[in-house]
Amino acid sequence: MITKFSEKERNRWADEGWLSSNSYYNFWGNIFSKDLDQYIRNKEVVDIGTGNGLVWENTLNKGANPSHLTMIDPDLSISEKLAGRDFISPHRSTIENVEEIIGDTIIFKQAFHLVYEKSGDRLFDLVKGKNFISFAMFPEIDWPVSDAFKEVHAPSCPDARKIIEKNGKKIIESKLYSYPVTMNREEWISMIEGRFISCLYACDDGFIENEVSWIQDNCPDIVEFKDTLECLIFR
Ligand SMILES: C[S@@+](CC[C@H](N)C(=O)[O-])C[C@H]1O[C@@H](n2cnc3c(N)ncnc32)[C@H](O)[C@@H]1O
Repeated sequence: MITKFSEKERNRWADEGWLSSNSYYNFWGNIFSKDLDQYIRNKEVVDIGTGNGLVWENTLNKGANPSHLTMIDPDLSISEKLAGRDFISPHRSTIENVEEIIGDTIIFKQAFHLVYEKSGDRLFDLVKGKNFISFAMFPEIDWPVSDAFKEVHAPSCPDARKIIEKNGKKIIESKLYSYPVTMNREEWISMIEGRFISCLYACDDGFIENEVSWIQDNCPDIVEFKDTLECLIFR
């Protein structure tokens, strides 16, 4: 259990582009506080892969009131104010190293693929919940990227529906959420150079250079696309 965070230890995932904008966290705060209300209000919630906690800051500011909120992330970098709230338990750890994860609602926002990659189906022995909620990207994306990028991205998205079924769980609700991205081409290049998405971690510098050239040749000054996540609620 940890309660103090320093600037140095901040999670870098959402440092650039739309992932660092207030409007992005406001968008997700609305979805969590309104659409997920029945799964959060007076519930023991566990958020796996919390990152910088800004989704939760927005969600709580909009009146959401879980009875307890556990946050787990090896790079957890929430504000001291959030960490200090008495109903929040922050753990800077992978789930594999937390002894017991039990809650009414278990949430993975853009983290299911990373956790599943490590623990596989053992995930459902490590984590017990009444309801599970995952927000994840599709393997097919309509982002302004090259075919080479798409080929690297697709295998990083496991088939969540298959995994859910294989583990004896049932999807009770599904919905798509699209955040409208607008930014200039230089910002987009900077995100690619910073390997902002986990599928780029394993790519060498040559791959990144080729992608930047592709963007320079193919993208307009202002880049517009949709960042779409599929929400699956299962139990
Ligand atoms: C794409 S970020 C999403 C952050 C946050 N949920 C959001 O949407 O703003 C994925 C997060 O999952 C975390 N993560 C990766 N492996 C994990 C594991 N085994 N257990 C818990 N969290 C993990 C990463 O550290 C990262 O912060």
